[in-house]
Amino acid sequence: MLVTGATGFIGRALCSALKERGQVFTALGRRPERAKAALPGVKDVWRWRPKMEPAPLTALQGAGAVVHLAGESVAGRWNAHKKRAIRDSRVSGTRYLVEAIGEAKSKPGVLICASAVGYYGNRGEEELTEEAAAGKDFLAEVCQAWETEARRAEEFGVRVVMLRSGIVLGLGGGALTQMLRPFKLGLGGPLGNGNQWMPWVHVEDVVGVILHAIEHASVSGPINVAAPTPVRNREFTKTLAQVLHRPAFLPAPAFGLKILLGEFADVLLASQRVLPKRIQELGYSFRYPALEGALRATLA
Ligand SMILES: NC(=O)c1ccc[n+]([C@@H]2O[C@H](COP(=O)([O-])OP(=O)(O)OC[C@H]3O[C@@H](n4cnc5c(N)ncnc54)[C@H](OP(=O)(O)O)[C@@H]3O)[C@@H](O)[C@H]2O)c1
Repeated sequence: MLVTGATGFIGRALCSALKERGQVFTALGRRPERAKAALPGVKDVWRWRPKMEPAPLTALQGAGAVVHLAGESVAGRWNAHKKRAIRDSRVSGTRYLVEAIGEAKSKPGVLICASAVGYYGNRGEEELTEEAAAGKDFLAEVCQAWETEARRAEEFGVRVVMLRSGIVLGLGGGALTQMLRPFKLGLGGPLGNGNQWMPWVHVEDVVGVILHAIEHASVSGPINVAAPTPVRNREFTKTLAQVLHRPAFLPAPAFGLKILLGEFADVLLASQRVLPKRIQELGYSFRYPALEGALRATLA
């Protein structure tokens, strides 16, 4: 199996699960030496700069599955430069990877490509299964272009799965790690009015869905990777505060978030009531279906 973005938050969790299973895996990364040091059990790491060059063909030799997770982090203040990096690292990166798959003599059976619930945009109370239409904002457009590039691998007979992940919870990266400091200091609180639906998922379930998708040929196309019980931001805040035994009375007003984070604030304030309809129909059962259990397991 070949993994891109293997040094990231989800990539590290996936690679450590592969190592535990005794599965052979290789990686593509911008700094192979750093990646080798960060990924115990990795067989080989090849250098690849996703925004700039086709993926090396040697990396695809013998790879039955490719899991493509590389991309500039969306967290932080968005300016024109950051937005270009978010888009190009995903859209050009996926195009270059799929081009290499097209040229490779032996092709992988499956390409699992990251995407995000950002595909749907800000949708209020609407329940969002994989059939829901795409949103219209920047991230929704990036996700559509990203998925379109991934789907081109189908032309080469490769099964393609797009992971529309929610907010991934775990330690060592992702949104929860960012939230912990203010919450531990008693400075946590809802974002905006707290009414927005937050699709969350435990990192072990992201890894679980990836492995399920690799092992089951019936899984293809877009897959919502979010726990079956999305919560409103207000409830998320309350549950996290309870698990940490801290108060969480300090709301972060929408206008303050916008001043601080620019357009990225809209992502934090967007309401996305995402349901994992297809992956549940395809036989995956979530290890962490409820928020409190997921947070307790993570923060124990
Ligand atoms: N974490 C979440 O909550 C979440 C939710 C929805 C969707 N996703 C998507 O899932 C994928 C993996 O998420 P993650 O949280 O594991 O991401 P991450 O921790 O930010 O890591 C992604 C990896 O991508 C590579 N990368 C970073 N910046 C890059 C750039 N400018 N150009 C090319 N490659 C770059 C890096 O690998 P190397 O340095 O080894 O090259 C990095 O380790 C991402 O595409 C993300 O958008 C994540």
